[in-house]
Amino acid sequence: MKAVVWHGKEDVRVDNVPDPIIQEPTDAIVRITSTAICGSDLHLYSKLSPLMREGDIIGHEPMGIVEEVGREVEHISPGDRVVIPFNISCGDCYFCDQDLYSQCETTRDTGKLAQGVNLLGRGRGASLFGYTHVYGAVPGGQAEYLRVPQAHFGPIKVPEGPADERFLYLSDVLPTSWQAVAYADVPEGGTVGIWGLGPIGQMSARIALHQGAGRVIGIDRVAERLAMASRHGVQTLDFSAVENVRDVILDLTDGRGLDAAIDAVGMEASGSAVGSLLQTTKLQLDKATALRAAMSSIRRGGTLSLSGVYAGPIQAFPLGDLFDMQIQIRMGQANVRQWTDEIIPLLTDEDVLGVEDLKTHTMPLEDAPLGYEIFQKKQDGAIKCVLKP
Ligand SMILES: NC(=O)c1ccc[n+]([C@@H]2O[C@H](COP(=O)([O-])OP(=O)(O)OC[C@H]3O[C@@H](n4cnc5c(N)ncnc54)[C@H](O)[C@@H]3O)[C@@H](O)[C@H]2O)c1
Ligand SMILES: [Zn+2]
Ligand SMILES: [Zn+2]
Repeated sequence: MKAVVWHGKEDVRVDNVPDPIIQEPTDAIVRITSTAICGSDLHLYSKLSPLMREGDIIGHEPMGIVEEVGREVEHISPGDRVVIPFNISCGDCYFCDQDLYSQCETTRDTGKLAQGVNLLGRGRGASLFGYTHVYGAVPGGQAEYLRVPQAHFGPIKVPEGPADERFLYLSDVLPTSWQAVAYADVPEGGTVGIWGLGPIGQMSARIALHQGAGRVIGIDRVAERLAMASRHGVQTLDFSAVENVRDVILDLTDGRGLDAAIDAVGMEASGSAVGSLLQTTKLQLDKATALRAAMSSIRRGGTLSLSGVYAGPIQAFPLGDLFDMQIQIRMGQANVRQWTDEIIPLLTDEDVLGVEDLKTHTMPLEDAPLGYEIFQKKQDGAIKCVLKP
């Protein structure tokens, strides 16, 4: 079959690789019909290269048709239309029982590398599809076929009818955004600031408004992304056009700041010219530009919700100031299956969250290298690229 294979930093190719086969009674094989490129893939594409190996199949936002199931897989059968959550969870361990599916003990990578990357000596969470050698080294879903481990629990059966794009984002974007908003705990009618208007920021904004936030302020600098947010009711702020984002936000909020902030940027944040220089000198002091702007714009007693991915330490983290301001922080990989039952009804009859207005590019799988490039460089208006194997 054909699959998107990692060959090196900013070098992905579509290769011929062996077809996957059932290996465990809890496996399924799914023929992929749509598979999206995610902001998290951009970390693999560049920053997380040391955790990748040439030949890794990437991708973690797939859906398709079940081809074959192992003998312990009962809730899906060949021919069913399914979406595959990006985290691989057993549904029945200490953490899964608490809905902490991204911490599943059954699928955690216990290898030396995974143990070694945690500075606290505590290893890594649940395995993820197509996501490095510290998250299980599981072949990913940007491919014609996918072997789904723990398929007795993971795959979500979705109805026939609407186009794939109505359900595809159940794999990651929607539950991640739902969790970002849940963790932000915005008071009814309150104001939430969202840093980053990629797919995660876009959907977090729509979910926050749907759930009763009074005002959403979205911060980015890419014109098409600002425009998409503003047509969904977001008050937008181009951070490249102002001297200090915090000052603008304080002006908009009676000098107090936001009730809640969501960081939907993560470690790919872009900042000042000095920042970029530091980044290229590998000091990486500015990988938290968006996070710092968010932290400085929250009101006392407010909440910070991180969905953007960070790896390793952040220098000069203002812990004492957050303590003084009584800021609550919640974060983590999305516990996909915790939220999907609540989201599905918003997709089935009407497109309540406007998910059909997110994708900007549909491409054959063969064009994945181009998809990665334009998505990373934010060229050609790319906001969400969906590959069709
Ligand atoms: N927690 C999870 O489970 C989970 C799941 C999916 C994605 N993510 C993470 O969420 C983040 C966003 O994902 P995405 O697919 O939307 O990615 P994306 O790269 O499309 O979006 C990031 C956006 O941030 C903007 N940005 C960069 N620097 C900024 C700054 N200083 N201030 C404000 N905006 C800035 C960029 O212009 C871009 O539009 C990534 O870090 C991704 O890894 C986390
Ligand atoms: Zn993703
Ligand atoms: Zn589990």
